[in-house]
Amino acid sequence: MTKLKIIAFDGTEFDIEAENGSTVMENAVRNGVPGIEAECGGACACATCHVYVDEEWAEIVGPPGPMEEDMLDFAYDVRPTSRLSCQIRVSDDLDGVTLQVPARQG
Ligand code: FES
Repeated sequence: MTKLKIIAFDGTEFDIEAENGSTVMENAVRNGVPGIEAECGGACACATCHVYVDEEWAEIVGPPGPMEEDMLDFAYDVRPTSRLSCQIRVSDDLDGVTLQVPARQG
């Protein structure tokens, strides 16, 4: 299991034990993190699972892929560490990662 910390827009912290191979979005939804709408169910087709990766973790999590980058054009308040959480796959490397939910989606 890998530990994720997801901080909702209101500052509520969700400490989640995530299974490797699952996505950050799946774990956020399963744990009721507000603000992760994930309308397309993880198909990289909606940009409503947008998160900010903590700067310290940005390099480890890595940049968005080309399709994800196109979708991020539709996200609200995109920043250099923006990612779509359905495209971040949980692995041991991410143990302890911190992500933040933006003020709103879309
Ligand atoms: S859930 Fe739709 S792009 Fe991530």
